[in-house]
This record gives sequence, C-alpha cells and structure tokens, in this order.
Amino acid sequence: MSDTDTTHWIATVPFTDLARRRRTRVEIGDGAVALFLVGDRVFAFDDTCVHKGRSLSRGVVWRGRVVCPAHQWAFDPETGRAEGRDECQPVHDVRVVDGVVLVDPRPRSQEEI
Ligand code: FES
Repeated sequence: MSDTDTTHWIATVPFTDLARRRRTRVEIGDGAVALFLVGDRVFAFDDTCVHKGRSLSRGVVWRGRVVCPAHQWAFDPETGRAEGRDECQPVHDVRVVDGVVLVDPRPRSQEEI
C-alpha cells in the first residue's frame, strides 16, 4: 500500500474539533475509538479499556499518557502499553488529511508496534 492510499481509512472528526476538546469518542464499524490529542499529535485507541471495559474517551492525558478514568491505568499513546503492567490497549493508526482525522478501523497488531 502506498502512503497516498487512504481507501481503508475512515474519516472521523475535524482536527479543529479535537484540538478544542482534546479527546473524543467516535463510532467506527461495530466499535468505538477514543481519540486523544497529546501535544500536537493525534492518537487512537479502542474505546473499551482492556482492564474492566470502561470508556477510555472519558479519560485524560497526563504526563504524556492516556489515563483511564476508572482505575487510572496509564497507557502509552504510541504503543497502548499499560504502564507497569502486561496489558496493552489496542491502538489504531491515525492520519490528518485536509483537516480531517482519519482512523484505520483495524487495530495495529502487536508485531507492528
Ligand atoms: S477500566 Fe480502565 S483502568 Fe480499569
């Protein structure tokens, strides 16, 4: 696949909306993805937390980590790895094209991370 091939990408929200809200939840296919702005970069996780299933999009970004609101597990936005734990939150590739946040609906495999 070339870098310009966006056929599998799903358009979600305008980047300006995410920049204002810093986080949001978007429905994609059968599930939902939590988008976060960390610094000036956009990251996407499965919205359902790997710990006990709470909505990660209600979490916050703290010290560069996405923190779940339920039990404060902190996830690395690049890899989805939970700090100090073996669990890993599924992450999705993200692009911003023409001011719109595009998300790959398929979580990245752990081999790619
Ligand atoms: S449900 Fe997310 S940390 Fe427990």
